[in-house]
Amino acid sequence: MRHFLTLKDFTKEEILEIIDIGLAIKKDLKAGIYKRELSNQTLAMIFEKSSTRTRVSFETGMFQLGGHALFLSNRDIHLGRGEPVKDTARVISSMCDMVMIRTFEHSMVEEFSSFSKVPVINGLTDSFHPVQLLADYMTMVEYGVSENAVVAYVGDGNNMTHSWMMLAAKIGFDLRIATPKGYEVDGTILEEALKIAKISGAAITVTNDPKEAVKGASIVTTDTWASMGQEEEKEERVKAFKGFMVDDLMMCLAQKGAKFLHCLPAYRGQEVSESVLEGHADIVFDEAENRLHAQKGLMVWLDKQRGE
Ligand code: CP
Ligand code: NVA
Repeated sequence: MRHFLTLKDFTKEEILEIIDIGLAIKKDLKAGIYKRELSNQTLAMIFEKSSTRTRVSFETGMFQLGGHALFLSNRDIHLGRGEPVKDTARVISSMCDMVMIRTFEHSMVEEFSSFSKVPVINGLTDSFHPVQLLADYMTMVEYGVSENAVVAYVGDGNNMTHSWMMLAAKIGFDLRIATPKGYEVDGTILEEALKIAKISGAAITVTNDPKEAVKGASIVTTDTWASMGQEEEKEERVKAFKGFMVDDLMMCLAQKGAKFLHCLPAYRGQEVSESVLEGHADIVFDEAENRLHAQKGLMVWLDKQRGE
């Protein structure tokens, strides 16, 4: 049995296999074919933070695969009132077939998974957002920009950045990260990613200069400057991130025809301008839709591992 907590635990081949399964399921769906590969299965979804895409994609995905999804916010279950994670894990995993968790501390999903009898999926922690990167890479493949990609990430050194680092390290593409001073990526995660990158041939660089990162990039990406849980820092962050908005001038430094990706939700006028977001709306909203397809691929893949 496998869990999906970070891309670090997955090989390049496994990541590509999950995406391939997702793409095949997507093709079927577009042709009106529904294979009930997870029939009679239940996915428990524990949300300690808000969500639009993650909730809708997992719930819809599980339904389309013939199963059922339970939405459990921490306002509704005893976890939010102090029932220990290890007890919650043993109870839920004795009744459900898979668990998806969105929470704060990454250690919570690690603890949960160590007590769970069924696969656990990280639906975002303060440190990583790996399911988003499955959708992002699926989108890169579909748009024909996954080969020789040079990705520039401009913004906060956060869960998205860490997951981009792991994806680049595993797949072996170039990733340039530009964050303001004081908002850099986690040093330990960077070290781990650089170690993996040595094997795959990925080049991961960090700078405080967004222009340096974007120059010649084939894909530019960003994320909110204030993640969930950092709402009170918003004002101070808007000041600190001056010069880090991905706008048309910044996109001009990238390769001609460079793509723009955003995990959403987007804050126009902060990390991205209205015109860049709307100018790349086709790919950005395909990226969002791919959450559904990539995660269906993931759930089917995780279910297969259990049987092997
Ligand atoms: N990108 C993403 O995870 O979106 P939600 O927060 O809406 O789930
Ligand atoms: N970094 C953001 C991603 C949202 C999908 C957050 O954690 O809020």
